[in-house]
Amino acid sequence: MAQYIGAVDSGTTSSRFIIFDQHGRIVGMDQKEHRQIYPKPGWVEHDPMEIWANTQEVIRGALAKSGIQGSELAAIGITNQRETTVVWDKTTGKPFHNAIVWQCTRTHELCKQLAAEGGQDRFRARTGLPIATYFSGPKIRWILDNEPKARSAAEKGDILFGTIETWLIWWLTGGPKGGAHVTDVTNASRTMLMDLKSLQWDDEILGIMGIPRHGLPRIVPSSDAQTWGPTSENGPLGARIPVCGAVGDQQAALVGQTCFAPGEAKNTYGTGCFLLMHTGHEPIQSRHGLITTLAYQFSGRKPSYCLEGSIAIAGALVQWLRDNLRMFDSAPQVEKLAREVEDTGGMYIVPAFSGLFAPYWRPDARGVMVGLTRYINRNHIARAVLEATAYQTKDIVEAMNKDSGVPLKTLKVDGGMVVNELLMQFQSDILDVPVVRPKVAETTCLGAAYAAGIACGFWSGREELYNNWEQDKAWTPNMADAKRRTMYTGWKKAVERTLNWEE
Ligand code: G3P
Repeated sequence: MAQYIGAVDSGTTSSRFIIFDQHGRIVGMDQKEHRQIYPKPGWVEHDPMEIWANTQEVIRGALAKSGIQGSELAAIGITNQRETTVVWDKTTGKPFHNAIVWQCTRTHELCKQLAAEGGQDRFRARTGLPIATYFSGPKIRWILDNEPKARSAAEKGDILFGTIETWLIWWLTGGPKGGAHVTDVTNASRTMLMDLKSLQWDDEILGIMGIPRHGLPRIVPSSDAQTWGPTSENGPLGARIPVCGAVGDQQAALVGQTCFAPGEAKNTYGTGCFLLMHTGHEPIQSRHGLITTLAYQFSGRKPSYCLEGSIAIAGALVQWLRDNLRMFDSAPQVEKLAREVEDTGGMYIVPAFSGLFAPYWRPDARGVMVGLTRYINRNHIARAVLEATAYQTKDIVEAMNKDSGVPLKTLKVDGGMVVNELLMQFQSDILDVPVVRPKVAETTCLGAAYAAGIACGFWSGREELYNNWEQDKAWTPNMADAKRRTMYTGWKKAVERTLNWEE
């Protein structure tokens, strides 16, 4: 019996391949960053061929570094940055345009037109989403409108649309020679084109958006042994290994954190920051600016739903200090800088670089630094950068508490930024709830591995996964109520300053 499960994590900034053993422990790993392409202010693209090349490289790299053969994997799972959209030629595999990234604001005009009739929430009851540049549907439409070759391929029926997991699975299972063209329910729920209850593409919305149904992938569960077929022998695994799981990265982290019961929640601090709370088998509509989305669907089971608070910029703000302002050479240095001061000196940074996502949904917002005086130095800025992530999370938790009527009691965290102890303590202080970090912080990959491993019988079921979860560290609140209130009021004022900028 094969002893391992592999998982591809195709994230916003890098691709990773991680190999897990039966206990959910990491036994092999490789990672590679890809280019971020910014053609205009607010626009973000990736090169889909580079992502596919890097995926192959990290799969080969992780196998070589760990001395494990592809044939020793029982199955693989895929997890991915969601919403990022690729449109390609089904006969050649060539993309018609760079991938349009989830953070990209180029569909602002299109979204305004869509919302002009029926308002920003006109598709919310069916899709769980407000009309926003974040989601994939308008990105597909933008490519059809702006790439004549894509439009004519669509007319000939030669076009394929997909989010990143669809793109990678298509290549892994054969590409133009019969690759599977599928998307899992979690990724499909981010397109603004899928009906949340029927889990099918919604023909009326497709008609309004002008997207031909024939180019869309088949919607399938997130964990299934039969759906995707094996990888091709000539591919990076060098063997026919079943693809048994595909889950959007934030939902994968929910699975990796074993949040299988209604009310359980996690927050992942990556490029952006995403808080998801499991709400059970029925979609619950948010009345406070969150979105309703699929949590996962295991084969043969009812789908599970969640409420999500999406924050576009978290770790990306630290990268911005590093790459655009050249304030330090490596991201972890931000904590050292921030620790040199007690507070931010009264300044706030609101990183509305892609507008503001949840709970505001304001594409017109742009980033601000406010409260500047000559007293402010780079240490204060570093601290304000970290605090911005915690305040944005507080905005989400406030909305989540109002929607669910049950205050969050503890927050499970994961993602790259949770090694930052200053941020974790401040998060607990400003939320006034304990923050808990698991031993395996790579919960995104782990969740994709779990989805694949459950489908192929590598893991027996949820009990076994619960047993794999171990706490690493917890932070408890240590801030006076009055101080918390004053600081958060300042944040709210700063958020006001971002609005109505790009009208
Ligand atoms: O919705 C976007 C999200 O999936 C991106 O995740 O971890 O790449 O920031 P991450």
